[in-house]
Amino acid sequence: MTKKRILIMVSGRGSNMESILNAVADGQIAGEVVGVISSNSEAPAIAKCDQRQIPCSVVDRKTFARKADFQQALLATVDGYRPDLICLAGFMHILGAEFISRYRNRIMNIHPSLLPSFTGLNAQEQALAYGVRYSGCTVHFVDEGMDTGPIILQAVVPVYQDDDAASLAARILVEEHRIYPEAVRLFCADRLTIVGRRVIIDQGGKVNG
Ligand code: GAR
Repeated sequence: MTKKRILIMVSGRGSNMESILNAVADGQIAGEVVGVISSNSEAPAIAKCDQRQIPCSVVDRKTFARKADFQQALLATVDGYRPDLICLAGFMHILGAEFISRYRNRIMNIHPSLLPSFTGLNAQEQALAYGVRYSGCTVHFVDEGMDTGPIILQAVVPVYQDDDAASLAARILVEEHRIYPEAVRLFCADRLTIVGRRVIIDQGGKVNG
């Protein structure tokens, strides 16, 4: 099987990026990370790429007055990497329609809630404010909506009465670092098929799971 070309897009800390890089380095994923794009010139993720000698391009949102120009620059930079899979990993911008249609079913995102609950920003605060007993995270394909694309994997964590946003986010993050590399592994092994809103996972002959 030929290795898939993986591109990761970040805006900040980059811990999910690292979880994918680690899984690739460990040989768990039939792919290579060909580059990282940061939308923020001050993102800590950039230094992490430098340490690992992963090419990192900065397309800084702050330097574009118009959103459309940012999207065009982003798309041109992405095209240059010729990715098979694009992983949004704490990438805090909505992608334009042209971007999504060009890379349809090849863009994944991780979101810190059990979708379809609590889309958008501050998902952990939203979960606490709502009073749910369980929250978690979701890896999904990206479509034109906000956190609405077909769901690949989810993981559940309890919400405790003394949680604040930071403690809940930390509990969810442990699960993010587990399921995001797993979703990338399945994609790179050609084991994901999208049927309508559903993602069918090839279980390799196993029934259910
Ligand atoms: C993660 O918790 C991710 O799920 C979230 O931002 C954090 C990024 O952390 N993403 C979103 O909220 C997207 N709407 P990281 O930079 O350490 O991966």
